Amino acid sequence: MTPHVAAPAVRPPLDLARLRADFPILQRSVHGKPLVYLDNAATTQKPRAVLDAIAAYYATINANVHRGVHELSERATEAYEGSRERVRAFFNAASTREIVFTRNATEGINLVAHAFARPLLAPGDTILVSAMEHHSNIVPWQIVCEAAGATLTVAPIDDRGELMLEEFERRLTPRTRLVAMTHMSNALGTITPAREIVRLAHARGIAVLLDASQAAYHMRVDVQALGCDFLVATGHKLYGPTGIGVLYGREARLEAMPPFLGGGDMISSVSFERSTWNVLPYKFEAGTPNIEGAIGLHAALDYIDEVGFDAIEAHERGLLAYTTRALEGIPGIRLIGTARDKGSILSFVMDGVHPHDVGTIVDREGVAIRTGHHCAQPVMERFGVPATARASIAMYNTRDEIDALARALLKVREVFG
Ligand SMILES: Cc1ncc(COP(=O)(O)O)c(C=O)c1O
Repeated sequence: MTPHVAAPAVRPPLDLARLRADFPILQRSVHGKPLVYLDNAATTQKPRAVLDAIAAYYATINANVHRGVHELSERATEAYEGSRERVRAFFNAASTREIVFTRNATEGINLVAHAFARPLLAPGDTILVSAMEHHSNIVPWQIVCEAAGATLTVAPIDDRGELMLEEFERRLTPRTRLVAMTHMSNALGTITPAREIVRLAHARGIAVLLDASQAAYHMRVDVQALGCDFLVATGHKLYGPTGIGVLYGREARLEAMPPFLGGGDMISSVSFERSTWNVLPYKFEAGTPNIEGAIGLHAALDYIDEVGFDAIEAHERGLLAYTTRALEGIPGIRLIGTARDKGSILSFVMDGVHPHDVGTIVDREGVAIRTGHHCAQPVMERFGVPATARASIAMYNTRDEIDALARALLKVREVFG
């Protein structure tokens, strides 16, 4: 018998040249320079597999879903529902009944705000968020709080951009009905202690929604391990198409909730006197869904898993450290968001230069970064800046690209003295 030799646990590093060849847009140039795409927190680029899956859907099986008995409709339904199963497996949900397709993360949060929180809220109740939320995890709660006479409360962050856990815990009161928290901040890169947040809230019987819009394309997000009640993600950041998002909800929670939008597909029967609702998850999917979006998302999740989160995380962690050192080496740059547990997002300001000017000048060098408040104005306020420049890294970025960013930032320095 040959002795069993354990396979090495560490996967080989990414073959970046091969990987980049999968993304057609990365081959183009901008202003005569090779494109350096570092705006991944806004949206990621799409591998050819996603583009092909969408084209093949329209070329071969385009039909409406859940309706016809004809071949094309059955095939389209299979593909659409196949994507739901793919999403279930990706997030390790217990059942496809817990996976609702939405337009994006924002719609998922609005769904929970109106169908879960609003009926629950009474005057004096609170919903707790953190000080580093995207606007889409603030405004829907404000709307329902205002309608119910409830209050939105905010757990503060420290100077590194880390959640102050004791302060968070102090704000969990007998009147708190829901915690809505980012899993990774789009403005700071902070990864929040999501399991601990769920544990603390559940110990008091409070439901938790996690916004995994950023986390989900950088690391494995497992809803059962996290234990959350709701979780949202958005397809276009997961290397998939725009217009498709995911709401995970625990079955018992979703079952107890009324519909959010009314229309076709979400009903079981309709009369002018009374309508009844379809079973989960269809109760929450009114109207013709984004079939091509679901199919494109399926291909995107396949692609991510083929590359593997071990390899993605190791690569992005290395590049985050490399980029941090590069930015720290440029005179006058200050990083905003230096959490110990941080994803590959780097927000920064440069002394004496407006972030908009930084973005415009580096764009002329072919480097795409984001500038502005990143839909997180309260974060900007917390750090006393009107805006930041933000470089955000995805699986296909390289050290050469970070060097190009650094050279472009030195040009900005030269221009502004
Ligand atoms: C943390 C976070 N939450 C929510 C969203 C909203 O995503 P979408 O606009 O796709 O709904 C974003 C998008 O930037 C985000 O970064």
